[in-house]
Amino acid sequence: MALPQAFLQELKARCNIEDIISQHVQLKRAGSNLVGCCPFHSERTPSFTVFTGRENFYCFGCGAGGDVITFVMKMQNVDYITAVTYLADRVGLKVPEDNFFRQEKKVDRNRFFEMNKCAAKFFHNALMAPENREAYEYITGRGLTPLTLRRFGIGYADDSQDSLKGYLMSQGYSKEEIREGFLAGVSQKTGKLFDMFRNRIIFPIFDLSGNVIAFGGRIIGNGEPKYLNSSDTPVFKKSRNLYALERAKNNPESTLILCEGYMDVVALHQAGFTNAVATLGTAITPDQARIMSRYASTVYISYDSDNAGQRAAKKAIDLLTQVGINVKVIRVEDAKDPDEYIKKFGKSSFEKLLAKSNGHIDYTLSNIEAKYSMAIPEEKLRYVQECCDMLAKIYSSVEREIYIQKICEKSGVDPSVIRNEVEKKQKKAKHSAEKERIKTDIQREIGWGDRIMADSSKNLATAKKEENLLGILLMRAEYLKDERLSAILCEKIFQCEFTKRVYTRLIETADTLPFDLSLLGEYFDPDEMGRIMKFVMNRERLENNSIEVALELARALEKIASETVEDGDGSDDSFLKSLEKIKQSKK
Ligand code: UTP
Ligand code: MN
Repeated sequence: MALPQAFLQELKARCNIEDIISQHVQLKRAGSNLVGCCPFHSERTPSFTVFTGRENFYCFGCGAGGDVITFVMKMQNVDYITAVTYLADRVGLKVPEDNFFRQEKKVDRNRFFEMNKCAAKFFHNALMAPENREAYEYITGRGLTPLTLRRFGIGYADDSQDSLKGYLMSQGYSKEEIREGFLAGVSQKTGKLFDMFRNRIIFPIFDLSGNVIAFGGRIIGNGEPKYLNSSDTPVFKKSRNLYALERAKNNPESTLILCEGYMDVVALHQAGFTNAVATLGTAITPDQARIMSRYASTVYISYDSDNAGQRAAKKAIDLLTQVGINVKVIRVEDAKDPDEYIKKFGKSSFEKLLAKSNGHIDYTLSNIEAKYSMAIPEEKLRYVQECCDMLAKIYSSVEREIYIQKICEKSGVDPSVIRNEVEKKQKKAKHSAEKERIKTDIQREIGWGDRIMADSSKNLATAKKEENLLGILLMRAEYLKDERLSAILCEKIFQCEFTKRVYTRLIETADTLPFDLSLLGEYFDPDEMGRIMKFVMNRERLENNSIEVALELARALEKIASETVEDGDGSDDSFLKSLEKIKQSKK
């Protein structure tokens, strides 16, 4: 059961898409539309467009698109009903309650949140229980105060196989739910369920609304793995969340400190640096960088002082600068990580480290400098080469010029030589980026690695026809009422799973003209919505979207469908056959 259309229309009328999107994207007027840099991929020239009249958006760079609900789903990484509820709350609308759909979906997510909360409480109580004194002493021995333990909901999982599982089942959660939430695993030998976290200090992970979405667990003492983290679950994606961001996001200075580990974050918060966050057992991802850019204009990277930590810092610098964040790098000296540093030297010393942290360019330059001796010609050459590699990545020419001067002073090489070299490298980088782009375009064209229309590669030409027909129909839904056309249109003429689904939904809404994209949002995920937008965008560019064109496409598809049935095609080798046909036609 869908949400009532009247409700959706009211919701969209009240939630101005421009207002919602401009909370996250700086929009500029371009004709009758608005454009800005896409929040869903990294770019410097705007290809993200908001069509205010039609109340939808599309990014010509990455293909993200949809209506205001899709935007919220993508931006906040939530499901359809949560996005609808969020928007409705903003404008004081009530989501119709007696709705089968709402019950079915929303309860699901809430079930997970509640189960996780239950587990977090269970772990926290266990940490405080007298029989687990050893665990309590371990963690307080590492300097965490009882207040911090409470604030962060830190807990303990004992070493039994079924403490948590038993408790959750007594609270009414099924084995399946417990397993899906990554709180238990299934033994391959016995088929029995066993607690996933054992003999570990537990760090609950929260989303921005304060729901418990996952856990990280550190083994007490030595053992492997040192940390165990929840895998992705229906309510958790580790590449899209950051530890303690729900606490750190509200800092007034718009800064964040990015660390490697849970303990670093907790120790920093305890010392008053309440803007610390960490990734969740993985290297930083582009998504995390973009999420951070919503809450911080400056990020201080505070990684471990060992080689691995410094290598990781390099990657973080690249990803964070790509999304326009001003990046500084803290060097933790005489300690392995921020946690140890604060314990050893106190919080005022860390304050000083923050204050004297370098911009990422100075940081990288001094790293390069440390590797080479200017007295040895070959090393000097390598020094200049590496510096130029780095300079080529700097976007601002003024900034580049400043560093060119510095490098000249250090190496004695003429500035014009360095400038030339940097330009050459920039051209090369641009060239290979362009090549990469063409490559992915081609792959997309031939339907390779296409998640949404995976079966389009079986017959590309047909898939293209289906896309074109849908593009026209989505734009001109009134054509669906044309007798000539409706005599041909049916599910069978669509070969791709996806286009068939879009068509089915379109037909179901045919009597509620004019057609509105929001009628599809419930049935398609945000990536699919983007693709549907693309069908429309591709057609819109063309002049002729008349009923005759639609008819012609439909007739062609009808013919293909009947032929396909006859020679039992659609087999694996039909792709080869179609390649063969293309070759023939080229001759
Ligand atoms: P570290 O090994 O630096 O640990 O891993 P740490 O944070 O300093 O922890 P303590 O001080 O020894 O307790 C940094 C982060 O890398 C991830 C965790 O997120 C950890 O916080 N990690 C590390 C894992 O996911 N698995 C591991 O086995 C080790
Ligand atoms: Mn540590």
